[in-house]
Amino acid sequence: MLELSGSRATELMINDLWYKNAIFYCLSVGTYMDANADGVGDFRGLMRRLDYLHGLGITAIWLMPFQASPGRDNGYDISDYYNVNPAFGTLGDFVEFTHGAKQRGIRVIIDLVVNHTSDQHPWFQEARRDPKSKYRDWYVWSKTKPPQAGEGMVFPGVQKTTWTRDAVAKAYYFHRFYDFQPDLNTSNPEVQAEILKIMGFWIQLGVSGFRMDAVPFVIGTKGADVRTPREQYDMLRSLREFLQWRVGDSIILAEANVLPNTDLQYFGDDGDRMHMMFNFQVNQNLFYALAAQNTQPLVKAMEKTKPRPYSGQWGIFLRNHDELDLGRLSDKQRETVFAAFGPNKDDQLYDRGIRRRLAPMLGGDRRRLELAYSLMFTLPGTPVVRYGDELGMGDDLSLPERTCGRTPMQWSTEPQGGFTKSDKPVVPVISGGPYGYEHINAAEQRRDPNSFLNWMERIIRMRKEVPEIGWGDFEALDTRDAAVLALRYDWRNNSVLFLHNFASEPREVGFGVGLKDGRGDLLVSLLSSDHSRADGRHRHTVCLEGYGYRWYRVGGLDYLLKRTEF
Ligand code: NOJ
Repeated sequence: MLELSGSRATELMINDLWYKNAIFYCLSVGTYMDANADGVGDFRGLMRRLDYLHGLGITAIWLMPFQASPGRDNGYDISDYYNVNPAFGTLGDFVEFTHGAKQRGIRVIIDLVVNHTSDQHPWFQEARRDPKSKYRDWYVWSKTKPPQAGEGMVFPGVQKTTWTRDAVAKAYYFHRFYDFQPDLNTSNPEVQAEILKIMGFWIQLGVSGFRMDAVPFVIGTKGADVRTPREQYDMLRSLREFLQWRVGDSIILAEANVLPNTDLQYFGDDGDRMHMMFNFQVNQNLFYALAAQNTQPLVKAMEKTKPRPYSGQWGIFLRNHDELDLGRLSDKQRETVFAAFGPNKDDQLYDRGIRRRLAPMLGGDRRRLELAYSLMFTLPGTPVVRYGDELGMGDDLSLPERTCGRTPMQWSTEPQGGFTKSDKPVVPVISGGPYGYEHINAAEQRRDPNSFLNWMERIIRMRKEVPEIGWGDFEALDTRDAAVLALRYDWRNNSVLFLHNFASEPREVGFGVGLKDGRGDLLVSLLSSDHSRADGRHRHTVCLEGYGYRWYRVGGLDYLLKRTEF
């Protein structure tokens, strides 16, 4: 991490930078639990599951869009920023939910979707009708079709253009995403002020921050004359300042799939912009490593994304609600991942990714699932679990585009997986086959000590007791075997070490811990009893099963007695 002034003092405030050692859990209220028996999940239902989430051990919920919306992009098309979609409940229900989460020590962050609105938003409706309306300039217009209209689509194959003619306005409007999502003119100061107002509103209702949607597009210049958008990074500082002014410990987690050489522009050299960013670079290279059984590009991605301000943090994820975007890999690497995890055309999406959930991608192989999640919990940053992944839920490829992985949570063997009392859930519950609710559900896994759910609960519990990962600096150790990743983290006079074998075959690896004075001679295993002692040359030799992994504390279990304040 970058050594910046003030960082030593910041280090003392481990409770304030709560996101550095948090466990995020991402869910969509509409597919979690339906208390109203109308087939759509709601806040009353979600509230009833807070104890489940508390028991799982997660410490923060990332709640996907729940505001009023025609629902054509899973809520990422908002028609009223200041109201809850009536299908999910009321503002009152929302506040009860954030209150219930707070009582259990769980923070809530929500999506901030301000690159665009729904075309049904009254702002857009007024803008298209009345060229003199103040809202006209809240969007991005052109009298004629700009020459770049056929470029820059985010959903190639489904989305044909980025400029669509509106018959009422008699002009073309810009939309980075689907045509029903007109882009807001985010350079307009009035729009910027409105974005702050939206943040202030939800902060007041108890959220701890935002997962900010499509950040590079929000801050990019827009217009008919813009061929290559220029990022207006200063906007990020204004958002941060406002947020911190209102509620000091609230955060922004940025969705920005950018190249490592711009990461610092997003975090801010002085840690004055985004608190967190999803690490897309590591995500894509992690899937390549799993597919190719070669960790070298992953280590490179980790090294490249190492520089960040002390208060900056990566969000580490495996799968999210979108396709697994492999656009940053080379063509050959992408083909390798496709061949391993999504060989059929129907598995793939937008010419760049895989739309499947993780468990089916890994053939439901428990060893590989554990390997993947063990990695997610031990790569540098804060882990983000997706709902249902704690059960190894599957997908429904008969559903269009990304909806396949957004099916309702599977709670029990009861009808509709216990998600709803209605027999018409808004998105069908997966039934039948190896991933149907009859086999994969929370209730049965609760009863089985060896279930994936109980494994996940145990690993989360352990992860929370290893703050070195979230706070410390890592070093990749040389194992002389590209299939085996060895990472050591150091923080406050303590070190931890993780081994992961990406190969299906067992591997024997030799390595040095890289600490002086024999301090790395004893490795105490945290998840099993196979500790390791170094030989006379301070080297360890460990045998790992195919897809095996180890979590070690370096030196012994008296680490808390040895921990220093810096
Ligand atoms: C990114 C979101 O993750 C995705 O689901 C959505 O379609 C686009 N942004 C547009 O808001």
